[in-house]
Amino acid sequence: MSTSPARISLDTERSIGEISPRLFGGFAEHMGRCIYGGIYDPGSPHADERGFRGDVVSALRELNFRLIRYPGGNFLSGYHWRDGVGPRPQRPRRRELAWQSIETNQFGTNEFIELCRMLPAEPLLGVNLGTGTIEEAAALVEYCNAPAGTTYADLRVAHGYPQPHGVTHWCLGNEMDGPWQIGGLNMQEYARKAREAAKVMKWQDPSLRLALCGSSNTTLPTYPEWDRVVLEMCWEHVDFLSLHYYAGNREADTASYLAMAAQFEEQLDTLAATVRCVKTKLRSRHDVFLSWDEWNVWYKDRTMRGGWAEAPHLIEEVYNLEDALVVAQWMNVFLRRCHVLKVACLAQIVNVIAPILTTTDSLVRQTIFYPFMLFSRYASGMSLDVAVRSPRYPTRLFGDMPLIDASASYDPVTGDTAVFLVNRSQAAPLPVEIVWQGVTPARMGTVVQMAGTDPKAANTFARPDAVTPRTLAGVPVANGVATLTLPPLSFTVLAGR
Ligand code: AHR
Repeated sequence: MSTSPARISLDTERSIGEISPRLFGGFAEHMGRCIYGGIYDPGSPHADERGFRGDVVSALRELNFRLIRYPGGNFLSGYHWRDGVGPRPQRPRRRELAWQSIETNQFGTNEFIELCRMLPAEPLLGVNLGTGTIEEAAALVEYCNAPAGTTYADLRVAHGYPQPHGVTHWCLGNEMDGPWQIGGLNMQEYARKAREAAKVMKWQDPSLRLALCGSSNTTLPTYPEWDRVVLEMCWEHVDFLSLHYYAGNREADTASYLAMAAQFEEQLDTLAATVRCVKTKLRSRHDVFLSWDEWNVWYKDRTMRGGWAEAPHLIEEVYNLEDALVVAQWMNVFLRRCHVLKVACLAQIVNVIAPILTTTDSLVRQTIFYPFMLFSRYASGMSLDVAVRSPRYPTRLFGDMPLIDASASYDPVTGDTAVFLVNRSQAAPLPVEIVWQGVTPARMGTVVQMAGTDPKAANTFARPDAVTPRTLAGVPVANGVATLTLPPLSFTVLAGR
């Protein structure tokens, strides 16, 4: 493996597109301890008078989520929203089938909207197209968005919310291609149901922006034919096609795992091509964008049956340094594909495959917390078309890959620029030159870096700060060039203007 210097070339005139703030979204599902025991935990010493965990809300604010998807996930396909609104003592206690848990319904749509207002983040609500009907979907839109004066809007007012919630972004079901889904459908059945739901939802409120369920993952035999068929049948009624993916180092092959960006790009490119092909075939002027509304690392904890308990411990993945480097690359890919990808939701936000783990009285920021936080804080404006010249290294899954994975942003309004660099090498430091053309920053005054020697190092309640970013000295930019050396197994953000 060579360690000759890498060169990152940027030109502020060469941008890929505008970075949608909705790329910094999260996902909260009624699963395990995401809602109960995570966001909402009246028994915790950190709970406010409404039951929201103050420490969790503060940590979520650090992540600067711009949008939160709710209430599922597989949970959505068995959920009837009327169960979760109105006086709490009257809300039903149910056997929840997706995760075989007890759902108390003490948290529902209005509590979710309150959370969004508190953060603040935009809500992205799902409608149940598994066991739900199009009538129920339209009624939820009325409940959330209509002014007082009709049945469901008046119900919202009676529940204490005189003003409409104004929810613009919605999902038409969840993973409806999955055999695991409650009330799963084949592609024609789903497309027909989604189209009819979309019609009545937009009749309720024409400002809605709707996401169609795309393939749940790339291994299903229906991928990507499902996507083509549902797009063709629903095109004019929808605004996004969703995709989901969970990455993992299942074969203990860290070299390949650290090159996963290749897989993320392939999935996005396949679906972007499908979208484009359908648009051309339909001779349409309407646009549909991609929404990666579930993404994360998930492979270690597969506990998915709750044993009919309330808030059981389900899929409480513990994240390590290599997982954080994969998350950082995922976000590099979001920037590199921001012309087609407009929404992305980290799945999930608390306890369940999440950047934050809680006990009743404390919380831990997991390794993946930090790359998300840094992208969400520093990436803004336009994504630049980064040219990377880098030494390469061999991987079993993707062939020879560059040691560096990179993205960059430039905000023409503020003049802020940021560069995001992952060094995939497990052993060698890598000297890097960053070369600007166009508007050149005077100095990259902020340099923040996560690095370590052990790819499996993780934060725990006993050692909550084992893997955290360090702030380094700023880097001068002389004649449009900045130089630095990236340690192995590292993620570095440089920001300046
Ligand atoms: O995020 C956990 C689960 O993964 C979601 O409920 C489902 O949509 C996906 O399969």
